[in-house]
Amino acid sequence: MKRFWLILLIAPMLLAGCRKQNEATEDAQMRVYVDKLMAQMTLEEKLGQLNLPVTGNIVTGAARESNVAEDIRQGKVGGLFNLKGADAIREVQRIAVEESRLGIPLLFGMDVIHGYETVFPIPLGLSCSWDMQAIERSAQIAAREATADGICWTFSPMVDVCHDGRWGRISEGSGEDPYLGSRIAEAMVRGYQGESLKDSATMMACVKHFALYGLVEAGREYNNVYPDDFHAFNEYMQPYQAAVDAGAGSVMAAFNTIHGIPCTGNKWLLNDLLRDQWGFKGFVVSDYCGLEQLRDHGVCSPSKEEAAIQCLDAGLDMDMVSAGLVELADAVRAGRCSMKAVDAACRRMLEAKYKLGLFDDPYMYCDTTLRNTVILCPEHRAEARKIAGESMVLLKNDRNILPLQKKGTIALIGPLANTRPNMSGTWAVAAVPWRYKTVREGLQDALAGTGARLLYAKGSNLMYDAGAEAIGTMFGREMRDPRSVEAMRSEAMNIARQADVIVAAMGEASEMSGECSSRVNIEMPDAQHDLLIELAKLGKPIVLVHFAGRPTVLNWETENLPAIIESWFCGSESADAIADVLFGDVNPSGKLTVQLPRHVGQYPFSYRQMRTSRLNPGGEFNKFTTCYADVSNKPLYPFGYGLSYTQFAYSNFYLTDSIMPLDGKVEAHVTVTNTGSRAGAEIVQLYIGDRVAKGVRPYKELRGFERLTLQPGESREIVFTLDADRMGYYEPADLKWTLEAGEIEVMIGANSRDTQMLLLNVKQ
Ligand code: BGC
Repeated sequence: MKRFWLILLIAPMLLAGCRKQNEATEDAQMRVYVDKLMAQMTLEEKLGQLNLPVTGNIVTGAARESNVAEDIRQGKVGGLFNLKGADAIREVQRIAVEESRLGIPLLFGMDVIHGYETVFPIPLGLSCSWDMQAIERSAQIAAREATADGICWTFSPMVDVCHDGRWGRISEGSGEDPYLGSRIAEAMVRGYQGESLKDSATMMACVKHFALYGLVEAGREYNNVYPDDFHAFNEYMQPYQAAVDAGAGSVMAAFNTIHGIPCTGNKWLLNDLLRDQWGFKGFVVSDYCGLEQLRDHGVCSPSKEEAAIQCLDAGLDMDMVSAGLVELADAVRAGRCSMKAVDAACRRMLEAKYKLGLFDDPYMYCDTTLRNTVILCPEHRAEARKIAGESMVLLKNDRNILPLQKKGTIALIGPLANTRPNMSGTWAVAAVPWRYKTVREGLQDALAGTGARLLYAKGSNLMYDAGAEAIGTMFGREMRDPRSVEAMRSEAMNIARQADVIVAAMGEASEMSGECSSRVNIEMPDAQHDLLIELAKLGKPIVLVHFAGRPTVLNWETENLPAIIESWFCGSESADAIADVLFGDVNPSGKLTVQLPRHVGQYPFSYRQMRTSRLNPGGEFNKFTTCYADVSNKPLYPFGYGLSYTQFAYSNFYLTDSIMPLDGKVEAHVTVTNTGSRAGAEIVQLYIGDRVAKGVRPYKELRGFERLTLQPGESREIVFTLDADRMGYYEPADLKWTLEAGEIEVMIGANSRDTQMLLLNVKQ
């Protein structure tokens, strides 16, 4: 018996030891392989590995004319991105392997951000599930589909923490919290890369945008950022590091500057921090034309060569679209650019290809038979539907008007009720909208055979102003209705009058968030707002199914409508998932990962309020305290908030000790009970508030969470271990993770506002 336990104890250690040894052997083999290959390469061929032109029909920046095929033959291309389809990719790979001198295979990348053809919720929505297994699974499925279509490298996860709802790209990240963001970053990397990159169903992750892109000043896209290091490390850097620690194979440099130097050419960032401090072993790619944009920042002369030299020297390995590194041969020969830096970058690119298995089989991601069985298969769609249901946040449900019963007459109204292309949300470049359902179809299917009647009217365009609407629907995902405001409205009022309940599918169109979609008006667009006012006058129950890629201001809606579901953009299966939640086949469990403001002027805005002088705890105007004269400091809906169709009670919260030595451990226990009559999932949240530290800490910061499903009447005890790892911070002097002695508030609750607190005394 004793021997059995001994084996059980040492088996994991032995396994870890073996794994390490295997890795070391693989690394050594890779080195030998790459050494041999590099010994045969000309300078031009080495530089060619650093070149990433765009191809295909998906262009996110300025389109480029280039004869890519000829460049590939000449060994001037290291990879391509946004080419879709195993057939097409096989053909391009064939040119590289059979028609270039050394036959080095290409990398094929794409923005596979939240799924492929099976589209998952936009990352902001996905994060609201707080379900790490589901998030990992979504990335795994994305990898399975993308690799079945020839792609082996994704420009994801995007882990930029953001406190500003004006920034359209807040939709692409995991919200405002670095702790949650880090857990999600790890889950995404695990999902994409799996156990081994050599598995043809996994792909290489690329963490972006390194670093601090979520801080763009005034929420304006591509703008500069001005962090101080203390806040950068405590509030924003952790998710990038978490992704690197999880083994992400590549990192994308951000467009913005840090310390006054563009990230693409920032040596402190790419070499000192990322490689030397964090031990990153993969390669760094620029963002779209990031290299040549050094000139726009005015940090080098107008010569692209100078920008390229600075970037290479700073630690950039691959240049997306600028074609700057590939042209450095003269500079190297003339001694203006270091050959050592070229070799280092080329080595990293070849190593990435080696790790992906491309040297074993350049066509390993080009199995053209897989598409039909893997991509958008029923199994993937079913999982996407489930995850979509978990990502929606029930903000309000007065008198329990939700879930709706499948009977009577339901009026479905709104410009987002009958649109297919809008469902997947921003950054779904591989989406096939014609294969997705509209909300109308989703509801119709859910009601089939029940005898309930579904009436539909568009009711309004997105906005009154056609020009403004055109900007918000630039890629043509939404067609403007030529009818007059009055005609559309009267049609909607007419069906509303016949209905028992009104479901309003309204909000932002999908292109109103995402890249270059910064906005200062983040309220319900005017035409839809006015329509809602008219509908509310009928006195019938209204459920708002709200679409958004960012936190929005929902003051009027909260005051006047009984039920609101924040549905974000939940991907290809949105329509069915919305029906699932509306009719109660799924009990909503999502919780906000960004708080919703009362006014756009509150931005930048986060629940992570730093301890400040002249605090205003009530949040209302109070002279000589920190506040506004015309709006509360409080959010409309706090971080971590979300309702369920059941209720949960928290009890028996205690710490195993009220005193903890600096190197000790204490447990926080709490019991959660489902006190309602339906099964449901609750997200239990642990916050700390470090009362005294050398550097200013927030009043509350998330340091743990657990998602659990409880049957009616069921209770479960949750235990969080508190120690220096969980409660530390980057102290201001050396930015080292530290726990200092002093009082720490330990708070547990269902959201960041409604918590219970116990004091823990950390002793020297
Ligand atoms: C975006 C990146 C994206 C790249 C390639 C850029 O404009 O900032 O997030 O990965 O385009 O499409």
